[in-house]
Amino acid sequence: MRTVVILGGTRGIGGGLAARLRTAGDQVIAIGSADADLTSVRQTAALADRLPDRIDALVFAAGRFTPRRVVTAEGFEQSFAIYVLARYLLAERLRPALDRAEKPVVLNLCGTGGRQGHLHWDDLQLTQGYSLLQATMQGARANDLLGVHFAAQDPGSRIRYVLYNPLFVDSGQHRYFSQPTRALVGGAAKVFGTSVTSMARRLADLLADPPAAPLTALRRGTPISLARPEFDRATAERLASVLASLLASLVTDPAQ
Ligand SMILES: NC(=O)c1ccc[n+]([C@@H]2O[C@H](COP(=O)([O-])OP(=O)(O)OC[C@H]3O[C@@H](n4cnc5c(N)ncnc54)[C@H](OP(=O)(O)O)[C@@H]3O)[C@@H](O)[C@H]2O)c1
Repeated sequence: MRTVVILGGTRGIGGGLAARLRTAGDQVIAIGSADADLTSVRQTAALADRLPDRIDALVFAAGRFTPRRVVTAEGFEQSFAIYVLARYLLAERLRPALDRAEKPVVLNLCGTGGRQGHLHWDDLQLTQGYSLLQATMQGARANDLLGVHFAAQDPGSRIRYVLYNPLFVDSGQHRYFSQPTRALVGGAAKVFGTSVTSMARRLADLLADPPAAPLTALRRGTPISLARPEFDRATAERLASVLASLLASLVTDPAQ
């Protein structure tokens, strides 16, 4: 029986995937904000300590759209905390647990393959001119780099890291918006979005048979070339070093 940890496994895409994998007989640990608030670095680190010591699949599906800038108690912009810091910290901390599995995989639901967005190196917390789009796109580019950093650290590892952009899914994300945007986004998702059931099936198939390469980026089913500039190795190491120093005062070295 596989052990699958899904961050953001209580609803939306992660929730659909959790239900599907449970039905198939996997042990699924589905984490939502009631289990651990991933906007908190300390809670994220404590969560890593109480997860099993052998994990077959680690799925990053937690996210929260914040139309207005929100700052966490630890001083981070909220979407940066949940989308970037938590994913970096958990991947680093759970590497040994993944290493103990036979065919380990990290599946990171993100915005890979999109052309917009960049890292605001001088203002990662977006104190100047925050917008939901900027925060989301910065997170997307950062997650591309998290994948590069993870795979580069141990080229001989059996762990497969998959960056996966589900594109538009009817997962209920319109609830983050106020009217009339809520009705427009909800209606568009019904018409143009992939259903959660269909996305969960695709992702379950991916987890059952992960790509052979240490790092893969997929825009739904389409592979994205890792030669693109957003996968630059030196930039990935720069980000990892910045994240490690941001975390240093709150937790011990993420890789320990
Ligand atoms: N839906 C799309 O069209 C789309 C497109 C591209 C990328 N993505 C990415 O795919 C992922 C999943 O999207 P989704 O549409 O399924 O999202 P969703 O429906 O909003 O679900 C988000 C999940 O994250 C959890 N979560 C939110 N805040 C949390 C916190 N502070 N601590 C712990 N867990 C928290 C939620 O748990 P609770 O509700 O229980 O707190 C829920 O399980 C996200 O990373 C998103 O950026 C989605």
